[in-house]
Amino acid sequence: MSVMVVYGSDQGCTRGIANRIAKTLNGKALDIKKARTDDLEAAHLLILGSPTYGCGDLQSDWEDHMAVLDNAKLDGKHVAIFGMGDQMTYPECFCDAVGILYDRVVAKGARVVGFTEPEGYDFSYSAALRDGRFVGLLLDEDNQPGLTDDRIEAWIGALP
Ligand SMILES: Cc1cc2nc3c(=O)[nH]c(=O)nc-3n(C[C@H](O)[C@H](O)[C@H](O)COP(=O)(O)O)c2cc1C
Repeated sequence: MSVMVVYGSDQGCTRGIANRIAKTLNGKALDIKKARTDDLEAAHLLILGSPTYGCGDLQSDWEDHMAVLDNAKLDGKHVAIFGMGDQMTYPECFCDAVGILYDRVVAKGARVVGFTEPEGYDFSYSAALRDGRFVGLLLDEDNQPGLTDDRIEAWIGALP
C-alpha cells in the first residue's frame, strides 16, 4: 500500500512530523508547494498535515496551492489528517486547520480515517472537533511535546 503525506509548514514542526509519519509507514512526504494532483491521487492512503495560523487559518502554502487538492479525484479514497497547534495561546481556534482540510476532502467524497479522542487537551473551541471527536490527529509541540510520540504511535496503529 502506498502512503503519501502532503504537508505545509512555516517553522518546520509539521514538516518534521510529516517526515516521521511517512518513514514509519514506508511512504513519502511532500510539501504542498511541490505536490501535484497526481501525487495525491496515486496514494492508497493520503495523509494531509497543516499547522493552524492566524486564528483558525490553514498554513499559507495550503491556501496558495489549494487547487492541487481541489482538482484531485478523492471519491472513496482513505484520507487521514493531522495538524499542529497551540492550545494555550489559541484555545479558541485550536488546530482549526484540521477541520478545514476535513471539510474540503469530505466534500470531494473522501473516506476520512484516523479520528481521535479529545481527552488530554485543554481548549475551548476547535473546528477539528465534530460530534465529540477530533477528525484527525492533533499535536501540540508548543505545550505538550512529551505526548507527541505516543499520540503518533497510537494514531498510526489505528489507521487502516
Ligand atoms: C502567528 C501564529 C499564529 C498561530 N495561530 C494558531 C491558531 O490559530 N491555532 C492553533 O492551534 N495554533 C496556532 N499557532 C501555533 C502553530 O500552529 C504551532 O506553533 C505549529 O506547531 C507551527 O507549525 P510549523 O512549525 O509547521 O509551522 C500559531 C502560531 C503563530 C506563530
